[in-house]
Amino acid sequence: MAKITEITQGERVAQGALILSELNDLKRTIGSCSKELGWEQAEVEAVVEGRAEDDTVTRFIDDFTGFYPVRRTSLTLPRTDCTNGVRKLDLEASVASARVFERPTADGGKSPYYEYRDTAMSVLSDYRPEWIEQLRVVDDNDPNNPDVIYNNGHFMHQVTFFVGPVNFYYEVDGVRYCEEMTTGGSNYITPFCPHSFTSRDASEQAYIVAVTFGNNAKRALGELVTLGEARSERYLVDRSSKTAATQDLIDYHLGNARLTRELLDQRLAAAGASARVCDSEAEYSQEQIAEIAAALNIRPADLMVVDAPSAEKVIVKKTDPAEAYAYPSPSNSAYRIWPLATTRQLPGVTFHRISVNSADSDFRPDFTTGTHTYLFNYSETDCHVAWEYGGEVFRDTLRKGDSLYIQPQTPHSFHIAESDSGAVAELVCVGVPSAIDQEVQLELSNMGDFSRVIQESKCWF
Ligand SMILES: [Fe+2]
Repeated sequence: MAKITEITQGERVAQGALILSELNDLKRTIGSCSKELGWEQAEVEAVVEGRAEDDTVTRFIDDFTGFYPVRRTSLTLPRTDCTNGVRKLDLEASVASARVFERPTADGGKSPYYEYRDTAMSVLSDYRPEWIEQLRVVDDNDPNNPDVIYNNGHFMHQVTFFVGPVNFYYEVDGVRYCEEMTTGGSNYITPFCPHSFTSRDASEQAYIVAVTFGNNAKRALGELVTLGEARSERYLVDRSSKTAATQDLIDYHLGNARLTRELLDQRLAAAGASARVCDSEAEYSQEQIAEIAAALNIRPADLMVVDAPSAEKVIVKKTDPAEAYAYPSPSNSAYRIWPLATTRQLPGVTFHRISVNSADSDFRPDFTTGTHTYLFNYSETDCHVAWEYGGEVFRDTLRKGDSLYIQPQTPHSFHIAESDSGAVAELVCVGVPSAIDQEVQLELSNMGDFSRVIQESKCWF
């Protein structure tokens, strides 16, 4: 792994602003905080203004979090390991990270199963992208082949892109399945769903590009672990049907509002609403959900879920040229975009294969996403990437096996070299959910002074 670079002056200033924001939240001034922590006021001013030495800042954060009920993580910025908004990992660095893992064989021995290699990632997003070669070769598609070793599933969601003759195995409700995949195929795997991958052909390279990521549940993990299983379990809703989920969500909001179903019914009646919640198995129309939400002073969407997800524990998608579309328009196919396996349960995740056809090297902001972007070039053709950062355009080249991380809201485009005209560069592209999800998006959009969110510059009074 490349070492994270030194702290920049910009980061020191941003760090100071974050501390000032926390002081404001605590209704402390620099003066009152200095007294409480036993620091010189001038020293605290230097910290807040980004002028202090790095070890002074560290010592201040130690003292601060030791005194006020503030988590260390909410006071420290993610270190920027990107250069001009991106972070690349080239094939050589990826190969240098290779780890071969053995697993048992049917005859009681052990043999190599996977070779893992890192690809591009950044501290700004906790997705984990791996290149994984299947070293175990099978000669059938039997999901119960004893040479196939399933894992126990994992906490992270997973999307996978397939290259070569890979068998994909998974287990749902005690039943095992095998799908024969080829280049261009993809899947989505729900957390804790056991799975495995093997090769069908020793003479051909078989590998996957697997991207695992935590979503909001990962960000909430600290609280969940502290509350423990018995209390955390109370958050769960019955996802076996839309009605059951809505009823559980009504109970959740009633609890928060310190209301009972009887009290809510009185409110609904007084408001002239048709909905009643005394029957905890009732189904509601959209209008009735809106009535109940209004009586609870919440949004109708807070009581609604999409379809039961049980049928979508694993989504497998084979290559389908009919689904590919020309981008940016049917008459301008600078790109062909192939939608890959995603789930409606995670609207923040996107997954595409992007075929780059154009040799036009002029920069255009063809793509700008609210997600973190992960890219991997699996083709023989070099892919040139250009992006805009701080008003300037930067460029780099992704050769076969190179990968790139691009920060959210960074306009970017791709093209091939003039000398490669007629060839196609093929990218795997995953849009990894940002912590800035739709809830945050709406909340921020209601705020009065957005620039103070990004860099607090004032005392609270
Ligand atoms: Fe996995």
